[in-house]
Amino acid sequence: MQTDLLTPDASGIDRAVAILRQGGLVAIPTETVYGLAGDARSDAVVAAIYAAKGRPGFNPLIVHLPDLAAAERIARFDDRARALAQAFWPGPLTLVLPLHPGAGLSALVTAGLSTVAVRVPAHPDTRAVIAAFAGPIAAPSANPSGRISPTTAAHVLAGLGGQIDAVLDGGACSVGIESTIVGLNGDARLLRPGGIDAEAIERVLGHELLAAESRITAPGQMASHYAPRAAVRLNVERPLPGDVWIGFGADCAGAVLNLSPTGNLDEATLHLFQMLHQADAMAGQGGTIAVAPVPDKGLGQAINDRLRRAAAPR
Ligand code: TXA
Ligand code: MG
Repeated sequence: MQTDLLTPDASGIDRAVAILRQGGLVAIPTETVYGLAGDARSDAVVAAIYAAKGRPGFNPLIVHLPDLAAAERIARFDDRARALAQAFWPGPLTLVLPLHPGAGLSALVTAGLSTVAVRVPAHPDTRAVIAAFAGPIAAPSANPSGRISPTTAAHVLAGLGGQIDAVLDGGACSVGIESTIVGLNGDARLLRPGGIDAEAIERVLGHELLAAESRITAPGQMASHYAPRAAVRLNVERPLPGDVWIGFGADCAGAVLNLSPTGNLDEATLHLFQMLHQADAMAGQGGTIAVAPVPDKGLGQAINDRLRRAAAPR
């Protein structure tokens, strides 16, 4: 299969929507990472998403929608869910809520669970696709399962080129790390740290988020995920000869790549996957990526979560 690269003008967006209507797969830009989009109502399409990624079938997908009203037709919202949606949508927040009985989704999207993950993304090109498609779109990150998430169209082509119909090139993602996932089926739980600082979510809820229960299966909870081909060592203040060193802050003068020379966590989030992709290309199979310490506060928690998984035994 040839994978077309679509420009984000009216004709590119029309083409992306036409492919989705025909039951094809299109990688779409979101503010967090690129997503591999397909019609969430079709078993065949959702099965094709799992197949293209090599993703285990027990790992459910996020449903992308135009607004809160559309999300309320898919999931049951309570006051907490509505407050978070109003505060952070469109934007990098995913809510896991009880599945609405009449949602009309393929059971493969939720992996048979009685809950569903819903999100309203902010990227204008993807908002245009979602509005024109006028149906629920399932979209996991557009990378082979277990690999680093894509933040550019080139990353998508490198990982999934030849296996999907098209990539809509909306430029580099502005957040650079996946959405924060909050579970509201019962107590409010942080299921995956991400592009919105958990503390900002706690301020809207008026209380702390509990940790995820370990029985919930999420790739964000699998030990080895976001894995480069090279080995990864963390909290490296002095790299070894041959390491590709990714720095953070001003004390990493010898680093070939630096997540943020000024120690800014927003900037580091934006650069994380991009630099892991670059470092992986530089280190190659058998090489090592060494990463400087990143403070574990605010967005640093999401960065360290992804780094720990990138470094986990495979
Ligand atoms: O920023 C993002 O969220 C990106 C963009 C493309 O929207 N998407 C993304 O999707 O990161 P993915 O498939 O790579 O991660 C989806 C996460 C997984 O950790 C999955 O287990 C979890 O959402 N998830 C989905 N449905 C769930 C459910 N019903 N209960 C618990 N976790 C769920
Ligand atoms: Mg993913």
